[in-house]
This record gives sequence, C-alpha cells and structure tokens, in this order.
Amino acid sequence: WVKSAFMVILILSFGLTVIILVTSVEDCNEFFLKKTPPNITRILGGGKILNQSRYKLICQTLNNTTTFVTLYDTQNKIPVFSAANDNPNMRPSNNSTNYKHQAGDKDYKNTGFSRGHLFPSSYGSTVLKRNSTFTLTNIVPQNKDFNSGSWNKMENCIKCVLNEYCKNNSNIEGFVVIGAQPSNNRLNQIISIPSVLWSTFCCYSQIQNSWLASAHWGNNRNHGPEHLDTKTLGELYTELGIEVFPETQLWKCR
Ligand SMILES: *[C@@H]1O[C@H](CO)[C@@H](O)[C@H](O)[C@H]1NC(C)=O
Ligand SMILES: *[C@@H]1O[C@H](CO)[C@@H](O)[C@H](O)[C@H]1NC(C)=O
Ligand SMILES: *[C@@H]1O[C@H](CO)[C@@H](O)[C@H](O)[C@H]1NC(C)=O
Ligand SMILES: *[C@@H]1O[C@H](CO)[C@@H](O)[C@H](O)[C@H]1NC(C)=O
Ligand SMILES: *[C@@H]1O[C@H](CO)[C@@H](O)[C@H](O)[C@H]1NC(C)=O
Ligand SMILES: *[C@@H]1O[C@H](CO)[C@@H](O)[C@H](O)[C@H]1NC(C)=O
Ligand SMILES: *[C@@H]1O[C@H](CO)[C@@H](O)[C@H](O)[C@H]1NC(C)=O
Ligand SMILES: *[C@@H]1O[C@H](CO)[C@@H](O)[C@H](O)[C@H]1NC(C)=O
Repeated sequence: WVKSAFMVILILSFGLTVIILVTSVEDCNEFFLKKTPPNITRILGGGKILNQSRYKLICQTLNNTTTFVTLYDTQNKIPVFSAANDNPNMRPSNNSTNYKHQAGDKDYKNTGFSRGHLFPSSYGSTVLKRNSTFTLTNIVPQNKDFNSGSWNKMENCIKCVLNEYCKNNSNIEGFVVIGAQPSNNRLNQIISIPSVLWSTFCCYSQIQNSWLASAHWGNNRNHGPEHLDTKTLGELYTELGIEVFPETQLWKCR
C-alpha cells in the first residue's frame, strides 16, 4: 500500500479535474472485513497494489467524512471496486438521485449507457453517505437495461438481506464490496466499458448465529437474465479470480 499521503490529480474524460486524496490503506481499512482488502488477480494481492502508478486507493470523503473506499484504475478510468461496511439503516431508495447536475452527464447521452454506481447511493445510511456515492470515481458506464433490470433487483435484494439478517445487538453491520471488470471497449474512446459487474457482501447474523455471504455478477449488456443467480464467494474466486474477503477462512464466510 502507498505509505504516505499524497495528492493525485486525475483528468477524466469529462473535462473535469478531480482532486483525490490518496492515503495509506490504514486510513480507511475499516471498510474491509478484518481490515483486509480483497485479492484481485494481477491488481491487488496480500494488501499490496501491484502497479501503484496505475491503481489508486481512494478514501472517498465528503465534508471531512470518509464514507467508503475505492480502488481506481487510472488507465481504464473506472473503479476496480468500491467497498463499504456501513450498513445502512437502509431506507427505500427514492428516485431523488439526481444526475442532472453531475458533470459528465453529456458523455453518457445517447450512448445506451447510464452512470452506474458501484457502491449504490441507496445503501448509504445518511444523506452525506448517499451524496458521496456520486463521485465519478464510483461510476462506470453501465448498460441501461442491465442497470435498471437484474442489477437493480439484486441491489434491492441485498439491501433487504442486510437489513433483515445482518444484525448484531440491533446494529446493522455488513461488509459490501462491489466491482467491475474492464473491457477494451471504450466510451468516447476513453472510459472502459466494463464487461462484468460483480457484487458481494458478508456479515455476521445474530438471528442465524452464523456468517452470511454471497456473490452476484452479470454481463454489462442487453438481454441478460431477468435475475442474477446467487453464487458463493468461492465461485466468484474460481470464475473471476477475485477473493473478496481473504481472511474469511477464519470467519467461515464463503
Ligand atoms: C490473499 O490475501 C491473503 C491475506 O491478505 C494473503 O495472505 C495471500 O497471500 C493473498 N493471496 C494472493 C494470491 O495474493
Ligand atoms: C503500470 O501502469 C502504468 C500506467 O498505466 C503503465 O504505463 C505501466 O506499464 C504499468 N507497469 C506494469 C509493470 O505493468
Ligand atoms: C459538514 O461538517 C460540518 C462540521 O462537522 C457540519 O457542521 C456540517 O453540517 C456538515 N455539512 C454537511 C453538508 O454535512
Ligand atoms: C475539513 O477539515 C479541514 C482541517 O481540519 C478544514 O480546514 C476544512 O475546512 C474542513 N472542510 C470542511 C468542508 O468542513
Ligand atoms: C422518499 O420519498 C418519500 C415521499 O416522496 C419521502 O417521504 C421519503 O422520506 C423519501 N425517502 C428517502 C430515503 O429520501
Ligand atoms: C420512480 O421513477 C419511476 C420511473 O421514472 C416512477 O414510475 C416512480 O413513480 C418513481 N417513484 C418515486 C417514489 O418517485
Ligand atoms: C446532498 O446533496 C444535496 C443535493 O446536491 C444537497 O442539497 C445537500 O446539502 C447535500 N447534503 C449533504 C449532507 O451532503
Ligand atoms: C457483536 O457486537 C458486539 C458489541 O455489541 C461486539 O463485541 C461483537 O464483536 C459483535 N460480534 C460480531 C461477530 O461482530
């Protein structure tokens, strides 16, 4: 991990300059289960970013509050994943999410792609947390049908599971890690259009007296299945090479 704090300026295709404070993982590792980040083949392993000039860890911060963490791919200009452990006193998501004032909207016009959040706004337990998800570094070009269809259903479903089952002494607590696999297809020749989006969670459930976890993923295109299958973290590892909660051997989160 990057040891000392420094500033990185990313010029995104949106013509926007985003100033991002990148710090050591210790500053925002509370968002990872057992404070251990995922292992992702060729990107991140054993807590080390393999190419530190390409991949940047971002402690997503709004009004001096860190709300979640993102690993950002500066070459593909999309996040690898966003992770959070705030679970959310999740209220039903309203349509109040307002893209209109976000820079970059024009890049998505008439492209068939929408601005897909990795960490969904609806999972934030406070207005600040919900607002903080609108940063470009949490956004990928997402097929509109996929976004509003099977992906949206899965997001709502997981939100319910977290609300219902991920309780310990009435505190809701769950770890959520959501990511994208880049492809060589680009939006405006610059932003990689992910081929696959994946989503995972893990939590301790007092009601079940056990750890719960699941993985979902789907292709970022039209005519996908109506529902995403619920898979295990082991299947995610086998099929996509992503070990989301590396310490879970200890925690039976599979
Ligand atoms: C995965 O993560 C664990 C814990 O951080 C580490 O010990 C292990 O070496 C990692 N595996 C790979 C392939 O990087
Ligand atoms: C690391 O990333 C930079 C920037 O994307 C790239 O130019 C370089 O070739 C990469 N290094 C390795 C060893 O892949
Ligand atoms: C930002 O933080 C300050 C100080 O903690 C607080 O007074 C203010 O209400 C916060 N603003 C928002 C928009 O959350
Ligand atoms: C954040 O904290 C710094 C230093 O504590 C302070 O200078 C700055 O005004 C704060 N920003 C906001 C938005 O509260
Ligand atoms: C959603 O909208 C309803 C009615 O418009 C409102 O009462 C409720 O507070 C909103 N919920 C959130 C989370 O903003
Ligand atoms: C959300 O948006 C859909 C379609 O735009 C609309 O049918 C629905 O009534 C909206 N829900 C709320 C709570 O505003
Ligand atoms: C959230 O965003 C809305 C709309 O941009 C803004 O009016 C509000 O002050 C923001 N609140 C916080 C806590 O950031
Ligand atoms: C459940 O909550 C208690 C404190 O209320 C904490 O000590 C304990 O570690 C929690 N259990 C798990 C599995 O997180």
